[in-house]
Amino acid sequence: MPATNSSQPDKNNVQGMIMRGYTHPWSCHLIFKFATQPGAKEFIKTILPYVQSAADWGDNKPEIMLNIGFTFTGLKLVSKLTTSDLAGFPPTFKQGPASAGSQQSLNDFGTSAPNTWVFGQTGKQVDCVVHVYGMDEPALNKLVKIVADAAVAGGLTEYLPIANGTKRLEEYATVPRNSIHFGYLDGIDQPALGWGSPSDPADLSAFLIGYPNKTSQPGPSYGNAGIFAKDGCYNAFRMLYQDVNVFDTFLETNAKAIAPKIGKSVEDTIAWLAAKLNGRWLNGSPLELSPDAPDPKTSHATAFGYSGDTTGMKCPFAAHNRVANPRDEELSEQGPPPRLIRRGMAYGQPFNSKTASEDRGLIGLFLCGSLSNQFELLYSWINTTNFSNLFPSQQGQDALIANRSMPGADTSFTIPTPAGPVEIESLPQFVVARGTAYCILPGISTLKSIVE
Ligand code: HEM
Repeated sequence: MPATNSSQPDKNNVQGMIMRGYTHPWSCHLIFKFATQPGAKEFIKTILPYVQSAADWGDNKPEIMLNIGFTFTGLKLVSKLTTSDLAGFPPTFKQGPASAGSQQSLNDFGTSAPNTWVFGQTGKQVDCVVHVYGMDEPALNKLVKIVADAAVAGGLTEYLPIANGTKRLEEYATVPRNSIHFGYLDGIDQPALGWGSPSDPADLSAFLIGYPNKTSQPGPSYGNAGIFAKDGCYNAFRMLYQDVNVFDTFLETNAKAIAPKIGKSVEDTIAWLAAKLNGRWLNGSPLELSPDAPDPKTSHATAFGYSGDTTGMKCPFAAHNRVANPRDEELSEQGPPPRLIRRGMAYGQPFNSKTASEDRGLIGLFLCGSLSNQFELLYSWINTTNFSNLFPSQQGQDALIANRSMPGADTSFTIPTPAGPVEIESLPQFVVARGTAYCILPGISTLKSIVE
């Protein structure tokens, strides 16, 4: 029996983070492995009252709240689904991010290799990730303690626990929200999440399971698996180390060489080069709208395209934002580019001489209806930038986040300028994968059914 219909989703049944970006200043992500089915169910039952739905909270913004995701192994343990029901889930979700299939897109080679991950690899199986939010630090800690105590009671193992001397992936007040370690403003552009346009990759139906969508085809949609997954959404949860020292050194060293060619000071060339890697200036202004300098008026602009910039003179083809959302760019394949909902935060202390050796980076929550048609397709573009006929053959990889150890990777970066192209022979590795888990954020009625 099909579990799909086209009536509008009930926001009370959808986990909140899928439909809204939370503005709680404090958050923490707890990563667990279950021990037994009764222990796992007891754990879920204890934290269920804190699960936040997508329903509008009006003036009563919750002081504390959480959302829950399960990997396929976690789901297998806690759900009542049979082996044949479970077969209905997409292979990408079932096999997980360290699998050979997923690695064809993620290309986690070298220091990002799955066997170096702190979670999500063989022997470090993740079953459940709990995302906790608080209005202030004591509020966050209160709920973290409730979750941590419930985990101990249920016999769960936590990765990155405080008890082992490693900090939880907490947000530090010193890293401003909406800002990330390389200094860019983040959280600017998100899919509009309209309703009723199944051909639109930004429609909510491209993200929520159980509603027809032609672009991402979220599933499973049929049988018991479809009923279980309805109103759920996948989350590619990824911990990404950011090498601020390598990034800053790269900018400074190259800016000195480039500045005379483009007629700017070294300081301005550092800002220019950072913008060319990303596609937006540090303040958020898109290069397409503000090609010469950042402009406070465009810092949150989202209405622009790349089709008028066929030479890459404003925004290089391989700039991160141009690859991750090519907008109106001509694509090699039919159909509009996939979209992702991004939720996440910086983790770790800001970089300075005292904290230089500490861990820091981005906790990325990439929400999608299909891990393969959205998240992994974009990742393959990031590592190869082969998605547009417009691209000259040698355009290298995503300039900011691609894996440079990928066999055959073209790590060069070309920045077209009126004075001729600036050629950077080889980009360093700015970002390293530390762990990945493919989760489903089930509907709230499904969470309740698990503990009944
Ligand atoms: C540490 C790693 C990363 C850094 C430093 C980074 C940085 C940024 C920045 C500064 C922006 C612009 C802010 C905005 O538009 O909201 C952005 C946008 C974006 N990023 Fe990333 N990102 C990272 C990882 C990823 C990954 C792994 C993906 C996808 C697989 C991704 C997909 C996107 C998308 C889709 C956009 C929106 C582009 C647009 O709509 O114009 N990013 N990123």
